[in-house]
Amino acid sequence: MGLGEILSSAALANGEGLVMNILELKGVSKSFGGLKAVSNLDLTISQGKIVGMIGPNGAGKTTVFNLITGFHPLDRGEVHFNGENISRLKPYEDCLKGIGRTFQIVKPFATKSVIRNVMVGAFCRVKTAKEAEEVAREVLEFTGLDPKRDMLAKNLTIADRKRLELARALATRPKLLLLDEVMAGLTPKETDDMISLVRKIRDLGITLFIIEHVMQAVMTLSERVVLLHHGEKIMEGTPQEVASDVRAIKAYLGEEYVVARG
Ligand SMILES: Nc1ncnc2c1ncn2[C@@H]1O[C@H](COP(=O)(O)OP(=O)(O)OP(=O)(O)O)[C@@H](O)[C@H]1O
Ligand SMILES: [Mg+2]
Repeated sequence: MGLGEILSSAALANGEGLVMNILELKGVSKSFGGLKAVSNLDLTISQGKIVGMIGPNGAGKTTVFNLITGFHPLDRGEVHFNGENISRLKPYEDCLKGIGRTFQIVKPFATKSVIRNVMVGAFCRVKTAKEAEEVAREVLEFTGLDPKRDMLAKNLTIADRKRLELARALATRPKLLLLDEVMAGLTPKETDDMISLVRKIRDLGITLFIIEHVMQAVMTLSERVVLLHHGEKIMEGTPQEVASDVRAIKAYLGEEYVVARG
């Protein structure tokens, strides 16, 4: 790589380049029968940032991830990744483009070892088992799972299963990583460890879009937070702005709470 290219990629990483929106959703909508799961959602994520998505159960958060990654076809709207319209791509094509994801309900290959599970992700970019194993080892080292690489996935604790989910996604070499509640069910110490790991991933230059109910995690990690309610974005801002907004309180706790507070 010439010096010019190095400088321009560094400028991109610093947010001074040309294409800064790694992800853009324009009027994205999805209904299941009569239920509007996601309504006319506009959303932009800048390269290199951590953006949080919060909202009560059933707000449509996971559906947004399923729409970005091609698990559900869009009813309306467009998804752009690095300036390219990827609205109609299939999940494996989105993965090849550089979008990785984890699943809210973790889905390891239970009777396979940790390293084999991670190798599955690596095969997104490499052809041989030897290469996949090299990638998997590197990712296991990075995520702290290396000592458990030969354990069967079904014998892992919840925290390690979440970590494995993340490791498998990282092995696909994503530019954008979507994390669906990777902190759910973790102890405070495990949550802190996961927060550190997410920061380490961001420091690699990977953009993160995270769904999280654990407020401490969303608030400390995210540069911006999007609040979804009944499939609509009802607000977006810094964690402080969202936390102090009356609409956020209403969405989570209900109208009565706002009235009761005066
Ligand atoms: N494949 C599907 N078929 C039918 N309805 C669905 C499907 N997927 C999601 N839904 C419905 O769409 C709505 C949004 O669901 P979604 O899973 O996106 O919510 P969520 O914000 O991720 O909730 P949670 O915090 O509980 O994970 C819910 O009412 C859900 O029942
Ligand atoms: Mg969900």
